[in-house]
Formats: sequence, C-alpha cells, structure tokens
Amino acid sequence: MHNTRKITDDIIWVGATDRQVQLFENLFPLAHGMSYNSYVLLDEKTALLDTVDSSISDIYMENILHALGGRELDYLIIHHMEPDHCANIEAVLRRFPDVKLVGNKTTFKFLEQFYDVHVKDNYHPVKGGDTLELGKRTLKFIMAPNVHWPEVMFSYDISDGFLFSADGFGSFSPLDGNLFSDELDFDGRIKEESRRYFVNIIGKFGSNVLKVLKKLNGLPINMILPLHGPIFRDKEHISYMIDRYRQWASYEPEQESVLILFGSMYGNTENAVGNLATMLAEKGVKNLRLYDISNTDPSLLMSEMWSYSHIVLASPNYNGDLMYKMDTVIREALRLNLQNRKISFMTNATWGGAALKTMESYFEDPKHFEIVGEPVKISSSVKVDNVPEIEALADAIVASLNA
Ligand code: FEO
Repeated sequence: MHNTRKITDDIIWVGATDRQVQLFENLFPLAHGMSYNSYVLLDEKTALLDTVDSSISDIYMENILHALGGRELDYLIIHHMEPDHCANIEAVLRRFPDVKLVGNKTTFKFLEQFYDVHVKDNYHPVKGGDTLELGKRTLKFIMAPNVHWPEVMFSYDISDGFLFSADGFGSFSPLDGNLFSDELDFDGRIKEESRRYFVNIIGKFGSNVLKVLKKLNGLPINMILPLHGPIFRDKEHISYMIDRYRQWASYEPEQESVLILFGSMYGNTENAVGNLATMLAEKGVKNLRLYDISNTDPSLLMSEMWSYSHIVLASPNYNGDLMYKMDTVIREALRLNLQNRKISFMTNATWGGAALKTMESYFEDPKHFEIVGEPVKISSSVKVDNVPEIEALADAIVASLNA
C-alpha cells in the first residue's frame, strides 16, 4: 500500500524510512532508521526528483505510481548519484522507458559506472544556470559540487522559492508521518542530527558549501527539501539552517565552552579529566561535555568537535605511543578539516611513551589551532601533587574563554 504525503497541491513526497538499517553508509549509527526523500511534481510535465535507497524500493514504486495517478513520467531529475538516491533509477527506466534523465556530465558518468545502462537517448544534460520548464513551475539548476559528491546539483523552483537541496540540509533522521521540521522536535533531535550529518557527510567540503551558499545569496528561499530528514518551511528554521551551514562550513564553533575527550584503560585518566571538569565548572564554565572515546561513536565526537570552541584531549600512552582510538579520533577530525579550535592536552604514562608528542604534532599549525595551557602529565594515577597543574590548565582554559 502506498504511503505518500502532499507538500503542496502539485508536489508529493514519495519517500520512505528504512527503520531496520543500523548504520548509514555502513558507518554512521542511526537511532531509529533513515529517511530517503523523493518528490513527484505534477505540472504540464511530470517530474520525479531523485530516487531512493534499495531498502525501500517496493513501497517507493507504489508511491510514485500513486502520485502520478496514471500519468506518464516525463523527467527524472538526478541531483546526486550516490546509491542511497540512485538505486531505483533502473526500475524507473523499466517502468517509464521514455523518461528523460536530467543530470550533468558527471551524473551520467557515475550512472554508467554504477549500472549497466545504455540509455544515452534518455539523457537531458544540464549545466549550472540552465532551467527546465515544467509548466507553471520552472526549475533552475545550481551546481553544488562536493556537497557531497562532485556531481551534486540543487534545483531551485523559481515561482515559489523552493530549494531541492540533495544531501544539503539533510539529517540522520527517520520521518514518522511528520515531514516538516515545524512538526518535529527541531530544537532537540533535528538540530543535533543535522550537525552530525553535516560534519560527517559534508564537513570536509566546507569551501564548496560556502560557494553554493554564495550562489543562493539573495534568492528567496521559502522551503528547503533535502533528500534526508525533515523539510524546512518555517522561516526561522530556514534561517537557522542556512546560518549553521555557513558557520559549520567556515569551521567556526557554535559555542564557547569546553569539550573533553578522553581515553582511559583503568579509570585513572578519566579521574584526571573528571577533576578538570569539576574545576572548570566551579570556575563558571557551563555546558561542559565529557566523552569516553572508547565507547562513543566517532561520528558523535566529530559533531561535538564542530560545536565546541575548546577541546581537551586526554589520553594514556599505549605501546609507547598514543592510544590508537585517540589517534583515530584526531586523524578523522583533521581529515574532515577541523580548524579554528583551541586545544589542550592531558596524558598519562606509567613507563613512558610518545602520546603527548604525537598529539601535539597534529596541532602544530598555528593558523588553524591555538594550544591553551601547559599539558598535564599524570604518572599512572592522579595524586594531590597533580592538582596544581590541573588547576593551572583549568585557569588557562577559563582565561582563554574569557579573552
Ligand atoms: Fe544521501 Fe551523499 O548521499
């Protein structure tokens, strides 16, 4: 049985949520599944905007047929050729063999790489700035390379100011009947999961995101329709998302406070950061967050690193060097281009090692990072003798926050 919802009288959501999937891209944990959005436009011509993941193919085809109400499909617009959106292109082609596939040069290159299709006569190539007239509605194509893959493009509906934004403005989120951010817990789950999605999926490509935002400058945007998660139609939510995208893509923190990431084998390094956190709290720092990196998914740690201005990294030595999970967290953050952060260090050693040296080596570039305070060095467990140096680090962090 189909399950669709009207966005407007002539735009119908035909997506669905996969509630069995536990890891998006087999990497990122999902609490309650993942939504894959797709839209049918009913005008003088009909258009389908993207397809969906293979996990929801069955209901998807029922949804399309129901939305079309017996009409033929004139266009399939392919904003992104990653399989979570393009897995049903062949099925659409089988059902509508004359459909025009709207994409750019790279779209068709990727299509032929993924699938054994020979449908060049169906191609309707477009470039940035080109338009597609459907009748009442005209779509203008905005190239958005690397938001998330090189072929990505957005469509902008000129008459109503609707932005079809591919992965842009998406989130790790199911859709449970409520499709719009104003029907949902925007201040809680949506804000958090939008950031986690941005950082892990698009975060590396900040300069590309800023270029696309520049192209959108001055355009009235009355609705944002991404391929994952809720649709934004509330003006405040639209402004919030665009402002956050500008901030996250510029690698500017969202809040002035302290994130503490620690690894700890026997609880001694945890005890050290616990003491630091208490001292920071007593000195007035709010919204502190402290994570054990061994049992927290890196995608959440990345998201929090994008949020906080100050990051304390605390790790024991392991096999004479940095504990590998801490090494992985730092390297992944740097691969995603984390910058403009204030970093402090704590280490713990029973018989020596290069943990501190290794951590420091990752943050040597003064253009991107400022080191705050003297590293705290624990020998096996925290003693009263360590209190002054932990206190000194807390004071340095507070001074930096107040600067
Ligand atoms: Fe939702 Fe980059 O795919």
